[in-house]
Amino acid sequence: MLKLFTRICPRGSAAWAPGLLLCLSVACGPAGSAEGELDIDLMQTIEDLNKSLSSNIALRDVKASSSDARELQPLFAQVEAHFSAKGDALDAVELAKKSKELSAAIIKQVGASQFDAATDSATAISRACRSCHTFYKKS
Ligand code: HEC
Repeated sequence: MLKLFTRICPRGSAAWAPGLLLCLSVACGPAGSAEGELDIDLMQTIEDLNKSLSSNIALRDVKASSSDARELQPLFAQVEAHFSAKGDALDAVELAKKSKELSAAIIKQVGASQFDAATDSATAISRACRSCHTFYKKS
C-alpha cells in the first residue's frame, strides 16, 4: 500500500500525508463496525424459532421441527461470525458453533423419529443460549 502511494505521490510531496490518512480511515472502517452490537432482530428471530422448535419436537411434528432447525442453522452461523470478528470472544464462538451443530443433529434425529434425542439436543441449545447471555449479554 505504501509503495502505491509513493508511486502516485513522489516522496516529499505534500499530497502524501492526506492520502495516507484517507486510506487508513477507509481501512479501519469495516474492522471497527465488526465490534458493533449484535443485531437484536437476529436474536428475536432466534428466540421465536427456538420456542417453535421445542414445541414442534414435543408435538412430534417432523416437518415443522426440521424446518425450524434448518432456519436456525444460518442464524447461529451469523452469531458465530459476529463473535469471530470480535476476536476476543472464543467461548461465544464455540457456543454459537455448538448450537449450529445441535440444530443439524435435530434434523437427523426427528427424521429418524428419535424424539427423545431431539428433545435433549433442543435442551442443549437452550443451555447454550443461557451460557452465552451470562457472559456476553449486558442487560
Ligand atoms: C454466542 C452468544 C449467544 C448465543 C448462543 C445466543 N445469544 Fe441471545 N444474545 C446474545 C447477546 C450478546 C445478546 C445481547 C445483544 C445486545 O444487547 O446487543 C443477546 C440477546 C438476546 C435476546 C434479547 C433481544 C432483545 O430484544 O433485547 C434474546 C430474546 C435472545 N438473545 C435469545 C436467544 C436465544 C433464544 C438463544 C438460543 C436459541 C440465544 N439468544 C443464543 C448472545 C447470544
